[in-house]
Formats: sequence, C-alpha cells, structure tokens
Amino acid sequence: MYKVAVIVGSTRPTSSNLKLAKALEKLAAGKLEFNYIDIASLPFYDDALWNDPPAEVIRLKREILDTDAVLIVTPEYNRSIPGILKNALDWPSRPYGESVWSGKPAAIAGATGGVSGTAAAQSHLRSILPMIGLTLMGTPEIYFQSRPGAFDDDGNVADDRIRTNLGIWVDRFVEWIAKTGTPRRALEEVERASSAA
Ligand SMILES: Cc1cc2nc3c(=O)[nH]c(=O)nc-3n(C[C@H](O)[C@H](O)[C@H](O)COP(=O)(O)O)c2cc1C
Repeated sequence: MYKVAVIVGSTRPTSSNLKLAKALEKLAAGKLEFNYIDIASLPFYDDALWNDPPAEVIRLKREILDTDAVLIVTPEYNRSIPGILKNALDWPSRPYGESVWSGKPAAIAGATGGVSGTAAAQSHLRSILPMIGLTLMGTPEIYFQSRPGAFDDDGNVADDRIRTNLGIWVDRFVEWIAKTGTPRRALEEVERASSAA
C-alpha cells in the first residue's frame, strides 16, 4: 500500500478541505495510507535558519522522504493558494539541490463554498509543483463545492455521483503513483547516505 503525505492548506478544525481529504481517505481505504502533515508549526521561511535548522523543518523533510507520494488539498485565498501552504512547499525544496519533493508523484484537490472550486489556486499549484520537483497528475481534477450537506454524518461525500467520481479519481492517483513513482528508500538508508556525503 502506498504511503501518501497529505497537506491540507487550511488549519481550521472544521476545514472543508480537511473534510474532503478525509472523504478521499475513506475512498482510498486499502489502497493508500494517508499521513497528515502538520504545517501550522513551521516558522516562516528564512534562508538563514539553515545554519541551525528548526526541528519542525527537519521533521517535515523526514516525513516527506518517508512517503511514496504527495496529496495537497487546499482552499483558494484571493485567487491563489494560502500563504501557509506556500511556506510548507518552500521549506522542503531547500537547501538548493536537496529538495525532498524530487521525483515524488503528486495530486491536488480543493474545496470552496464558491462555484469555482479553487480552480485559480490549483492553477497556481500547477506552476509551483513541477518547479520543486513533484510529478503532478494532470487529470482527472477535483473542484469541490462545499455546500451545506456536502458531507454526511460519517464524513462521506453525500452526493452519489460525486462520490463515485472521487473513487475513480483515487484509482487514477494509485495508477499514477505506480506508473511514475520510484520505490521509497528506507529512511535510515537515505539518512546514512546524506550523513556520509
Ligand atoms: C483570505 C481569504 C481569501 C479567500 N479567497 C477566496 C477565493 O479567491 N476564492 C474562493 O473560492 N474562496 C475564497 N475564500 C473562501 C474560502 O475558500 C473558504 O472560506 C473555504 O471554505 C476555506 O477553506 P476551509 O473550509 O478548508 O478552511 C477566501 C477565504 C479567505 C479567508
């Protein structure tokens, strides 16, 4: 089973994007293991901090290294991605040449109350993610409108047709990981190699 680093671009406890991620996790049961990444505790990016890297940054890079793929589920803020998400994308991309994103299969999704379904934010992600080395799945796409009643009491997407389509999306993401991913190296092996360098 593939292990996926899941980054949600909203830290609200009642986030509709967190609900969407959880609904995808249910649909992916037995196929993907979701590992939710804490991005709220990261400091703002500062190149000088690499002299003595914050523990949260080391932890984030280790968590990314230890996964087969990346899933980003994000709201749209003012026609782009939230700053907290950009910060979380920037840290693991550095120091230069030591990006832990490199070669990882990735997929994106987003939820909003509006009809645009985070299309503008996702369009920005489509520029950013290849730049940091992620191998982004082009289609299918998820533009989720989070209206009242969108999720049932068990956290499933309530609409049958949309839930079926999200299940198809999950299967395509699994195929994408199988096709484009490389086998995850044991974390200990990666750390031995980097400490020997
Ligand atoms: C600063 C800010 C800017 C926003 N800009 C947009 C926007 O450009 N497009 C949009 O569809 N929704 C926008 N929204 C609404 C959010 O998408 C909506 O609140 C969403 O539910 C937040 O995601 P969450 O439920 O996961 O926290 C904005 C919200 C905030 C706080």
